[in-house]
Amino acid sequence: MTDRVFNFSPGPATLPLEVLEKVGKDVVNFQSTGIGLIEISHRSKEFMAVASEAESLLRELLHIPENYKVLFLQGGASSQFFMVPMNLLGKGKKATYLNTGTWAKKSIKEAKLFGDIDVAFSSEDTTFNRVPKDSEYQVADDSEYLYYVSNNTIYGTEFLETPVSEKMLVCDMSSDILSRPVDVKKYGVIFAGAQKNLGPAGVTIVIIREDLLKRTPEGTPTMLSYSTHADKDSMFNTPPCFPIYVVSEVLKWLKKLGGVEAIAKINREKAQLLYTAIDAGSYYRGHAEKESRSLMNISFNLPTAELEAKFIAEANKIGLCGLKGHRSIGGCRASVYNAFPKAGVVKLVTFMQDFEAANPA
Ligand SMILES: Cc1ncc(COP(=O)(O)O)c(C=O)c1O
Repeated sequence: MTDRVFNFSPGPATLPLEVLEKVGKDVVNFQSTGIGLIEISHRSKEFMAVASEAESLLRELLHIPENYKVLFLQGGASSQFFMVPMNLLGKGKKATYLNTGTWAKKSIKEAKLFGDIDVAFSSEDTTFNRVPKDSEYQVADDSEYLYYVSNNTIYGTEFLETPVSEKMLVCDMSSDILSRPVDVKKYGVIFAGAQKNLGPAGVTIVIIREDLLKRTPEGTPTMLSYSTHADKDSMFNTPPCFPIYVVSEVLKWLKKLGGVEAIAKINREKAQLLYTAIDAGSYYRGHAEKESRSLMNISFNLPTAELEAKFIAEANKIGLCGLKGHRSIGGCRASVYNAFPKAGVVKLVTFMQDFEAANPA
């Protein structure tokens, strides 16, 4: 295929071409059944096999211990902002949150509906340009969990080290899940919308320690209780069949590539190419502080807003698309998730050098 561009979109985002090509065929005729993938019953043996493979691949790639359930839910990652505290907190219970960006802030707002929320750190006054060191905040003794967003998609910051805490961690990994190894047993809950590193929008992965399923307070609506979905292997109601199928194909692709450890190396190389280009002079300025720099979303500015607009327009013309920064901080952002090819990063770096030469500040 020659008409594809390099798509730096923050999500939904670039998926592996070989996966898209296979999925395209299966949408019409799934595994020679004569029925398209999105027409087949979720109770059919064919789809049950897909769902079970998606789960076992995820378990294998992330080394998920036996005492964790993997759920495939709907409602986006945003629904987890309330499902987590709704299931784990309740009257008089406390949790600690780190406010490192828009998605953390939104989850804090929802959590306050269900418990006593302690915001132990915020980088809002510096436009969320960094994440904290462990020494910069304290987790209250009576907190049920420490909640953080591992990668801040909009601002381009990432926790490159897992926070150290005696409390269980709860993490929104929507924009860096499977991009590097994680030690799942430190977490009570990990969740992620699929639309960046896992597949299309429409399914949210929740990895939850089994004992937590008993904590849900009485009176919680059935669909919003984790145990409903855990008890029925995410088949309590019709699951998002198509996204789950694509996730399973993306996971097969990742496994073939060498798994999370192998992709982590590639991700480091891609990000380093871009940060080196940003740091080469004073023309480009990274938004994030160096120690907090994301390997997934690289946010940067040019000397003026006019130059930024020209940069984005000219990049677009040569097939470097989706580089406009989020409206809350402006500038440019290159999202380079797992499936984003290194060749696209190399092309962007060359373009950055050419643009600077042709458009002095
Ligand atoms: C880190 C993070 N959390 C949550 C969300 C919200 O996800 P959803 O749109 O699936 O609700 C996003 C979306 O970009 C995100 O980047």
